Amino acid sequence: MPAPEYLPEAARIKLQERMEHHGADMMMLTASVLTLSYEDVTEIAWNVALEPKFSRPGPDSMDTLNASLPLRFFDLQDELADRARALAGAARARDHLKMVKAYGKLAETCVTCHSTYFHGIPPSGLE
Ligand code: HEC
Repeated sequence: MPAPEYLPEAARIKLQERMEHHGADMMMLTASVLTLSYEDVTEIAWNVALEPKFSRPGPDSMDTLNASLPLRFFDLQDELADRARALAGAARARDHLKMVKAYGKLAETCVTCHSTYFHGIPPSGLE
């Protein structure tokens, strides 16, 4: 089993602030998906897709906080944005089946990242 990866304390504090926001968005998103409120879903999903991210460290920023994060973390951040965009697209197209599937995919990304970095448990074949 791969060793669990942990995030540095400073990154965790920044994430905690950002995630509070995610938790609230996700509750609104859930209610909007389940009641087929397409416009609300489009707007909230876009907000999730566009929110600021930790940027991948370049060759000149190897000593920064971002450079101390595992690469997989950035992949999951990108996956979250991609899936939020897919959800917004499905909602805009008013395709309820596509929308609920896209919502499930988005939730998977939340869980995958949390299972790796929140409790330090490696991801368990969700993808
Ligand atoms: C790229 C990784 C990543 C993704 C993707 C991610 N999270 Fe998180 N989330 C974290 C980490 C790391 C923490 C724990 C921060 C800490 O150490 O307290 C966290 C914590 C949280 C918390 C608890 C915040 C608190 O006040 O302690 C909530 C709520 C949350 N995430 C919601 C979500 C939702 C909803 C999604 C999907 C829309 C999501 N997260 C996607 C990494 C991620």
